Amino acid sequence: MQLSAQQLEQFDREGYLFFPRLFTPDETKTLIDAVPALYARREAYNVREKGSDAVRTNFAAHMYSEPFAKLARHPRMVKPVEALFGEKLYMHQFKINGKMAFEGDVWQWHQDYGTWKNDDLMPTERAMNVAIFLDDVNEFNGPLMFIPGSHKKGVIDAKHDLTTTSYPLWTVNHELIAKLVDRAGGKQGGIVSPKGPAGSMILFHSCLVHASSANLSPFNRVSVYLSLCAVSNHIRRHKRPEYIAHRDFTPIECLPDDCLLKDYAVDLPWKHGVPESALQTSLDVIDLKVAA
Ligand code: SIN
Ligand code: MN
Repeated sequence: MQLSAQQLEQFDREGYLFFPRLFTPDETKTLIDAVPALYARREAYNVREKGSDAVRTNFAAHMYSEPFAKLARHPRMVKPVEALFGEKLYMHQFKINGKMAFEGDVWQWHQDYGTWKNDDLMPTERAMNVAIFLDDVNEFNGPLMFIPGSHKKGVIDAKHDLTTTSYPLWTVNHELIAKLVDRAGGKQGGIVSPKGPAGSMILFHSCLVHASSANLSPFNRVSVYLSLCAVSNHIRRHKRPEYIAHRDFTPIECLPDDCLLKDYAVDLPWKHGVPESALQTSLDVIDLKVAA
């Protein structure tokens, strides 16, 4: 799949592209069926909601789960982003967000690149966010909300929110959000939220301001979020554990298009557990001569 000139222009203007039903129900089923067993694990990589046992975010499933390892190498997702950046990509982050029925908590307004810059010392915004719906997303189960065009602001000042939810996030203050929404059209299009069936995909700019509300509905909203970073733009610091911010900058090699439905060998380096080294963190800046 390649992006047309019109899609590239739309991405530049609005900061996101929506692809309803990019993956078929059979393909999506191979992924959603694997989620309960992953969420049941008592591991550091399963971050649970504040005061609840429901999983908010599972990290790094592509390192230990076969269907997700195949998704991480899927050409329908990787190829358009590779073409857009004009270079190979590596996986900076891989999450399966639960946003479970009745339990899924809010994600405050933020830009992802703010966190990658502040915490991981990622040099520039040359990394793409990808969301893939594993459940149908509707107006009731806490869909993502975007402020179209907000990526044009570049990196916005943010505050490290350590209390609102169980997961620390660099969040944008409400006064600025109100201004950005107003500038984007206020009640007429100042906030959008792509909704659609399981199997749909969103590509969104790493500076696009986004949020989502709590899920008070009886419908789960499990979605995969992955961050594909241009290899030359790899992170320069390991302040966060490796299951959150990956340290292997090897370019992704795609599998064939039918990989979710057929057997293909994939490497699962953390199949027997996360290595101790992946939990270690450091404030040292990586020696660029070694990392290059
Ligand atoms: C995120 O912004 O990383 C997640 C948002 C969501 O799951 O709604
Ligand atoms: Mn985000």
